[in-house]
Amino acid sequence: MANYEKPDHWSLKAQKEGYPARSVYKLKEMDEKFGLFRSRAGSPALKVLDLGAAPGSWSLYVLRKLERRCLLTAVDLSPLSRQYDKGLFEGENCCFIRGDITALETLDAVRARGPFNLVISDAAPATMGNRSVDTLRSLDLAEAVLGYAETALVSGGSLAVKVFQGGNTAAILKRIRELFKTGKSFKPEACRSESFETYYLGLGKK
Ligand SMILES: C[S@@+](CC[C@H](N)C(=O)[O-])C[C@H]1O[C@@H](n2cnc3c(N)ncnc32)[C@H](O)[C@@H]1O
Repeated sequence: MANYEKPDHWSLKAQKEGYPARSVYKLKEMDEKFGLFRSRAGSPALKVLDLGAAPGSWSLYVLRKLERRCLLTAVDLSPLSRQYDKGLFEGENCCFIRGDITALETLDAVRARGPFNLVISDAAPATMGNRSVDTLRSLDLAEAVLGYAETALVSGGSLAVKVFQGGNTAAILKRIRELFKTGKSFKPEACRSESFETYYLGLGKK
């Protein structure tokens, strides 16, 4: 049984570096490995969509890394934590939409702010402790995220989406490979060893 009560290396590091969640190091690893936020000098601000963004570590990472060179749209059922953001979530280049990513009205509100260069999603259901139920609910979220990638991502844009392994995740990866020049699975070291989450990446939308 995992001990989620005791802060581990990554949680302590997140607190020290001013991030509300340890998950920031998963995004950092994917960024370092796949150059997710690479933009050419002089090119317009990178439009980033963060789905399932609360408490806000991934959004903070993007805003701190790119500063004014990004326009961020973050979406979640819950509000973003204001503990560490030092006003960044109120900046002109950040918009938070409180909503359900599987709802059509959220998709419409998000698309009005697109198209995006990058879609990142760490969305996860509140886990029930029943792996097959949790996996099915995670698959629903990943499918919704793919819908955003299909309709609101520019050609050449990229995607990083969390999935719980098990169930029909192969179908998600297959769709990603159809939609992008490169589709791959990657498990960051910052994932808890006992966790069955992984990330699928789609690089270079066709
Ligand atoms: C692991 S947390 C994300 C952590 C975030 N990446 C960070 O670094 O702070 C998963 C998030 O997915 C959100 N979520 C789950 N289902 C959702 C849905 N249907 N619509 C929007 N957000 C959802 C949860 O509210 C939760 O905040």
